[in-house]
Amino acid sequence: MSNTERLANYDLRAEIKAYWSERAATFDQSPGHEIFSEEERAAWHQLFLRHLGPGNGRAALDLASGTGVISHLMDDLGFRVTGMDWAEPMMERAQSKAKIRKRSISFRLGDAENTMEPDNAYDVIVNRHLVWTLVDPKAAFAEWLRVLRPGGTLLIIDGDFVSSTPLERLLSKLAVFGTRLGILKSDAVQASAAMMDTHRSILSRVYFSQGARAEAVADLLRQSGFDTVTIDTDLARVHRAQAKHWNLFKGLARGIQHRYAISATKAG
Ligand SMILES: C[S@@+](CC[C@H](N)C(=O)[O-])C[C@H]1O[C@@H](n2cnc3c(N)ncnc32)[C@H](O)[C@@H]1O
Repeated sequence: MSNTERLANYDLRAEIKAYWSERAATFDQSPGHEIFSEEERAAWHQLFLRHLGPGNGRAALDLASGTGVISHLMDDLGFRVTGMDWAEPMMERAQSKAKIRKRSISFRLGDAENTMEPDNAYDVIVNRHLVWTLVDPKAAFAEWLRVLRPGGTLLIIDGDFVSSTPLERLLSKLAVFGTRLGILKSDAVQASAAMMDTHRSILSRVYFSQGARAEAVADLLRQSGFDTVTIDTDLARVHRAQAKHWNLFKGLARGIQHRYAISATKAG
């Protein structure tokens, strides 16, 4: 990597951190981020149990933990959870939420590409909606392999938020149109035009600027040394539960997006 590229990547990381820091204040108001029903919570639990089994006190690292939504789900299942995020406002919210809910989840500031955690420290690493925004996923995956104990499991939950099918675009347009007419429920949080521009600009410069397709992520995991890499696109139960909190067309559009879980193991 040249010095110019390194500098550009540094700036991009700073922009990503600033972007999420700004979004922290309203992050938990959006369905799809925080959980608004027991039905959705149960659907997530089922997904995690399918790939990870019960926690039984095993050590789990939730990378890019944001306000701690995934950390809480893992805590529910009996994992000993550490959440890590590099955006301080996200971290503050995660810490105060855990205190209010009386959960002993430890949260620390850190970079998912360079965690500063010891080798072989965690039985499980999990992350939701991080991989699509990584500047250097190859470095991140090598780091996660180092931090995972032999026989441990990585679980990624992510999606392709760039490419869309004609049906998805039509549904999204109908959702916007219906909202403008006042006949459909609008989103709980309306991103400003400036924030949407920043989002688009960041997205155009990250590694998966063409969208994080599950197959491409899985290939990179295999190249990084992970074993038994499995793609699971059956998130329908989660999406059905979330859809009840969006308007009809938005719920349908999100339900057909390319969203997935990928599990991978470190050889024992
Ligand atoms: C879409 S939010 C997801 C938050 C949480 N995982 C969830 O699903 O509710 C993305 C989060 O990734 C964090 N993030 C992005 N890149 C990161 C990195 N390299 N290291 C640590 N955190 C990062 C952001 O600060 C933000 O909190």
